[in-house]
Amino acid sequence: MTDRYAVIGNPVAHSRSPSIHAAFARQTGEDLVYGRIEAPLAGFAEAVAQFRGEGGRGLNVTLPFKVEAAALATRLTARARKAGAVNTLKFDGDEALGDNTDGAGLVADVTGRLGVAIEGRRVLLIGAGGAAYGVAGPLLDEHPAELCIVNRTAAKARALAALHTRGGAVVAGGLGDVAGRSFDVIVNATAASLAGEPLPVPASVFASASLAYDLVYADLPTAFMRYASERGAARVSDGLGMLVAQAAESFFVWRGVRPRIAPVIAQWRPDAGPAGNVGSR
Ligand code: ATR
Repeated sequence: MTDRYAVIGNPVAHSRSPSIHAAFARQTGEDLVYGRIEAPLAGFAEAVAQFRGEGGRGLNVTLPFKVEAAALATRLTARARKAGAVNTLKFDGDEALGDNTDGAGLVADVTGRLGVAIEGRRVLLIGAGGAAYGVAGPLLDEHPAELCIVNRTAAKARALAALHTRGGAVVAGGLGDVAGRSFDVIVNATAASLAGEPLPVPASVFASASLAYDLVYADLPTAFMRYASERGAARVSDGLGMLVAQAAESFFVWRGVRPRIAPVIAQWRPDAGPAGNVGSR
């Protein structure tokens, strides 16, 4: 019988995951189908139970259920535990393994597709919500010279940094605390771009940046990407590559096969070469 997977969320109609995983299945020859499940806001556990009862093998979990998915898992990977959230569930008999592939997706996109090193570099992470929790650990695993976490609410940045005390390489503060400083890689994990709002981070931080990366994706450059490139970032990118790369990592968790991401990104961004989706504006 063909193995079944799905993305579960609310809303989920716009999710690109079914088309990404269908492309991965074609590419790798894996025999699977991948659908979408819109669970009622108060009915996540029931929807998961029904899917498992029908023989479902794994789920991608999206907003707003990632924290609930962590509670539902019978076992968590180390990276899911640090993230406090699960975007990938793998079912095996009574066991539900909870993993989080978001950070691995970001790192793969930055260091692999975009070819920008994190090791030994100064990295600025803006934001301290769910998205930032998902990527902080995997960024640190790349051994940056420094990971600086800033957030509109500074206390939340400090709380996230406190989870990751590693030899003093992690510092935290408010958005204004980095005035006069510069960074090599800057990651926007706030929701400000989605709202089209400007992000009040000091302009200096972008002056010598090799890459400014927005975790959200959009057809046009996001407000953050435009802001960063106007202030000197050499390259900017949205999060489409991360979306495809986190899906590839989930596919690997389920199937033990790692699909190539570039051909799938090219479906949406035909002009994106190996250094794809890099624009000056
Ligand atoms: P997500 O799960 O997408 O990270 P979240 O947990 O609601 O969503 O977190 C949203 C993040 O965007 C937070 O870091 C938030 O800052 P606060 O912790 O101070 O609320 C940040 N954010 C949202 N709108 C913002 C804005 N207009 N300017 C700056 N930061 C903003």
